[in-house]
Amino acid sequence: MSRTLLIIKPDATARNLVGHIINRLEKARFKIVEMRLVRLTEREARKFYAVHEGKPFLNDLVAFMSSGPAVPMVLEKENAVTDLRILVGATDPARADCGTIRHEIGENIERNSVHASDSDENARKEIAFFFD
Ligand code: CMP
Repeated sequence: MSRTLLIIKPDATARNLVGHIINRLEKARFKIVEMRLVRLTEREARKFYAVHEGKPFLNDLVAFMSSGPAVPMVLEKENAVTDLRILVGATDPARADCGTIRHEIGENIERNSVHASDSDENARKEIAFFFD
């Protein structure tokens, strides 16, 4: 069993899609082991996305991520990081495969409904960011 972090982003909470996303995760046999509803400050969002410091999209991303409620959760499954990345789909919903969460409900490359850790090492760091 391994663990990864998923965040339901403010575009999805605003459209009442929290339950829908959780349903998709549970159908794919992910176990929710931790979950919170948070409103990130700009400072917290910038810290979470520190790896993107200097990228042209960072300021907009920080404003968006702190614009409304978000739902970070820890998910457990065999090959959790890889399997969740597959279920979530490509960063840009327009390029995401059919059947992925971002293809189904993402609005654009920024408002792409969910974040998923991209490696076991980043999963550990991102889980520690939200959960003690
Ligand atoms: P996420 O998986 O949360 O990781 C970084 C986020 O930056 C990404 O999803 C997008 O929401 C956002 N983003 C906005 N523009 C871009 C871009 N051009 N390339 C990559 N990520 C972007």
